[in-house]
Amino acid sequence: MAVDGEAAEDKRRLLGMRAPMRQPGCSTLPLPVTPLRRGGAVTTASSTKSIPRSGRVRLQPGHSALDWQALSQSHGSRGTFIHGLDASSKWWDYFMVLQHPASVKQLQMGVPTYRIQPPLRVDKMVLESTKENDWCVLKGRVYCITDYLDFHPGGVQILVKNCRGKDATRLFEKYHRWVNLEQVLACCVVGVYVS
Ligand code: HEM
Repeated sequence: MAVDGEAAEDKRRLLGMRAPMRQPGCSTLPLPVTPLRRGGAVTTASSTKSIPRSGRVRLQPGHSALDWQALSQSHGSRGTFIHGLDASSKWWDYFMVLQHPASVKQLQMGVPTYRIQPPLRVDKMVLESTKENDWCVLKGRVYCITDYLDFHPGGVQILVKNCRGKDATRLFEKYHRWVNLEQVLACCVVGVYVS
């Protein structure tokens, strides 16, 4: 019996499971194991059903982090993630005045915004005028996150509500300061924020 008990304990340890509580006077037979929460899901040996962590949403098929990375390489790298940078916009002339002549030249030549040096400059007025295109400030940079919305593990609504036309750095740091923003949104960079 002691051997069975040790074996059960070893199994629990291996599976990362918690030893169940034993009441005084109860049988010494090995008890069923209780699964521990690991990462975003609860799993048991007999079931692979996952329970989403609070705050996480179930992403649509084809919207994983790897899918986003592939899309960034195939499309984003060509500058297609930037929306709203339109010469017919009311704020265009004002926006042009903010820019370094070398940046304007690169923009006219079709260089993707994330590669323009010195970076394009965006101020509060332009940021607020591009709300509809989901421009937002994160750690001093301006990103267009329209194409990322459906890939966000925390959901679309939380981004739309807290990012559009705003500086969402504080919230970003609050929820996940470990996320490598510069890498995930590398192709979504419009430029730098100037106040
Ligand atoms: C636009 C820039 C953002 C990017 C690139 C981003 C990226 C991510 C990533 C990669 C995760 C998964 C984290 C993990 O697996 O550990 C995540 C989860 C999440 N994000 Fe964001 N995020 C952004 C902005 C925000 C903002 C501004 C908020 C809040 C207002 C937010 C709220 C959340 C929440 C609630 C989750 C789920 C947390 C959890 O797993 O428990 N995110 N985000």
